[in-house]
This record gives sequence, structure tokens and C-alpha cells, in this order.
Amino acid sequence: MRTFICEICGDAYLGTEAPSKCPFCGADHSYIKPGAEANPVFKRAGEIGEKSKENLMLTLDLEMKASAIYLCMAGKTEKFEIKQMYKRLAKVELEHATVVTKLLGIEMPKSSVEECGDEDLENFEKTVELEEHATSLYGRFAAESEEEKVKTFFVALMKVEAEHIELIRNYM
Ligand SMILES: [Fe+2]
Ligand SMILES: [Fe+2]
Repeated sequence: MRTFICEICGDAYLGTEAPSKCPFCGADHSYIKPGAEANPVFKRAGEIGEKSKENLMLTLDLEMKASAIYLCMAGKTEKFEIKQMYKRLAKVELEHATVVTKLLGIEMPKSSVEECGDEDLENFEKTVELEEHATSLYGRFAAESEEEKVKTFFVALMKVEAEHIELIRNYM
């Protein structure tokens, strides 16, 4: 067994081979490195400019809200698979929020409670809407980033959120 580290969230995966996606933040295989080689984005040197700070604060808010909405959805479904899927999505989004706090060197905000629908289909549609919004926003934030580490973070996140759309569409 070996230690692999995700360069987006910094979490360690213990296994014989690197996973195809980070189990914690969902980042693609290409960001998962043998432990000794990994240099997570939030550990990289360099100041973060005002524009990126602003975009990261918007991201923090969006990720915290998404996490709370997915927890609500997990609580509403009657299907065990869907419940577990939404609980995982909630953890993934919370992980994204955590990385933002590490990049900015700030405290984790308190989680809010969010509302959601009663029916799976309604919640799937809402999820796709949220993830489409996040994907396009992170594309813009990546383009606006002047810092390599912030750009890397947003490019990785954009792909994760786009894959959440694929995941949900499989159920619709
Ligand atoms: Fe990760
Ligand atoms: Fe996210």
C-alpha cells in the first residue's frame, strides 16, 4: 500500500494505485500524485490578488450552500442509493469550501440549512441547474485568475462540477 495525495484538496488516499478521481474532492486523476511529489494548491507560495479573493469568497458561499442543499435532498429521497449519492455530493462540496478557506487562510464559516424539493426529479433538476451555474462561474473565475494556484483550483473544480451534471443526468 502507498500514500497518494490530491493536489487540489491535499487529502491522502491510501491504496495500491491512485484512484481515477479523488474520493474527497472529486478532482481528476491527473491531480493525484505519489505522496512525496504532491504540492497541494493551498501550500503553494504567493499572494492572492483582490479579484481572486473576491471570486474565492463567492465560491465559498456557493459551495457551502450547495453542500447544505444536497444534505436536504439526501434527507428527502426514499431511495438508499440516491440518499448516499447526495450525502457524498454534500461532502465533496464541503471539501471544496474547505480548500477555499485554506487558500484564503480564513476560518470555515458555519453551515446554513437550505431548502429543497420533496421529489427526486425536482431535486435532480435543481442539482443540474446549480452545477451548470457553478461550472460556468468557475470557468470565468479560472480565466480571471492571475495566480497559477488559483487557476489550477478553478480548472479542477470546473471539471468536478461538470461531472456532477453527468452523474445526475444518469438518473433523469
Ligand atoms: Fe482531492
Ligand atoms: Fe463544488
